[in-house]
Amino acid sequence: MSGDILFSPLKLGKNLRIKNRVLRSNISGRFDNDDGSLTQTRINWETKFAKGGVGAIISSYVPVLIEGRIIAGYATIHTDEFIPLWEKLGKAVHKHRAKYILQLSHSGRQMDLPGIHNQIRPTLSSTSKAESLHGFLCRAMSSGEIGWLVEAFAQGARRAREAGLDGVELHAANGYLFTQFLSSGINDRRDHYGGSLRNRARFLLEVISAIRATVGPDFHLQVKLSAIDRNNVLPWEGKGNDLADTIKVAKWCEALGADAIHVSTGSLFPHPLNPPGDLPLELLAVTYDAMISSGVHGFRNFLLFRYPMLRPIFKWLWFRMKRGLPVEGVSTPEAAAIKKAVSIPVISTGGYQTASTIRTGLENGHFDAVAIARSLVANNDLVKQWQGGRELPERPCTYCNKCLLNAPKNPMGCYEESRFANHEEMVAELMSVYSDR
Ligand SMILES: Cc1cc2nc3c(=O)[nH]c(=O)nc-3n(C[C@H](O)[C@H](O)[C@H](O)COP(=O)(O)O)c2cc1C
Ligand code: SF4
Repeated sequence: MSGDILFSPLKLGKNLRIKNRVLRSNISGRFDNDDGSLTQTRINWETKFAKGGVGAIISSYVPVLIEGRIIAGYATIHTDEFIPLWEKLGKAVHKHRAKYILQLSHSGRQMDLPGIHNQIRPTLSSTSKAESLHGFLCRAMSSGEIGWLVEAFAQGARRAREAGLDGVELHAANGYLFTQFLSSGINDRRDHYGGSLRNRARFLLEVISAIRATVGPDFHLQVKLSAIDRNNVLPWEGKGNDLADTIKVAKWCEALGADAIHVSTGSLFPHPLNPPGDLPLELLAVTYDAMISSGVHGFRNFLLFRYPMLRPIFKWLWFRMKRGLPVEGVSTPEAAAIKKAVSIPVISTGGYQTASTIRTGLENGHFDAVAIARSLVANNDLVKQWQGGRELPERPCTYCNKCLLNAPKNPMGCYEESRFANHEEMVAELMSVYSDR
């Protein structure tokens, strides 16, 4: 394998060196306790990927405040009490020579299942305009509340450093709180956090400065950005930020001390292009009911999924944006454009699964590494399979997105039965994460 760029080390920031060019991308799942404390199940889950050979794991969505969760049952980093738990997770991953980067997050208005801490809606956002797809209600934050959030992110980074983790990532992509400020399709403020791109980026840039002031220049800090918002999933919504906007934001992040940019897409999550692939509405008809009361459009959406005669309406809305775009490397051109504009490493996410496709992207300088979620959920040992000379895994991820659609109700894992000998084998694999206590 020597000389293979895919397995060559990568330096991130001043101190972080990862052994190859593959990072496990962020994957949320309901493995944790209701108070936000992480469980042995999460440690088992993360360790699977570390054992499988990835250079680093970027955590699930980890809220810096308990009110910032997307779904109760996701681990948080909102209190010093949890530092030893994160330390335990970090040590388990380090045993397999993998690094661990914690994704610092806040949902803003994009909160799927509020949980007991968030039953008082509307939630905080840049705007008081309800989220467009599900109709999640929200309230524009005051500048005092923004200052409180900035400090919460800085404290989250400090806790990650004290837990001995290898760095943090700001989740400034996919429609969560930072996107709600960044996006011209969402942010309708009239104060100095709204209007011009520089104003819309102010919250993110203040957080970067606060983190640097708290943890110093050496602790790795990367930013996940949606390169293009494509906010008009519902055609009457504004398109939001374009690539030129995000290139400027990426440069500002770099100037303030960000060590890498992780390139994603879309101003909501999920989005037709994120994760790219299918969206089986028959499955949504049996999982989306968990979210019916979360937003004012929840019941309408449920009917669109539940009744086969209505499904073509949603299918048209969802699938029209995908036309002509590949699943594997769906955002490679955007990553390449951002890479040209910044001098820090760029990590690209979206559909990667074929060794030669990634090698070509690395060799052509389109990105410095890839972040993979679903293909690693399907094959935790994907990197080892590539190292053994395979181009694609034996039973590849089909991009069916059944893992994603099960997330609100069921344990995280691969739900594509065609990849298994039978239903029992699939369930046994899903349950394996609970077995080693
Ligand atoms: C089930 C699931 C959960 C995800 N959770 C997160 C998350 O917590 N934070 C995040 O930034 N991205 C999340 N993503 C997006 C992935 O990290 C990744 O960027 C996206 O799925 C595209 O990569 P892939 O094609 O390799 O899956 C999630 C994706 C899936 C399928
Ligand atoms: S359910 Fe399995 S095959 Fe389908 S997208 Fe998720 S990981 Fe891939």
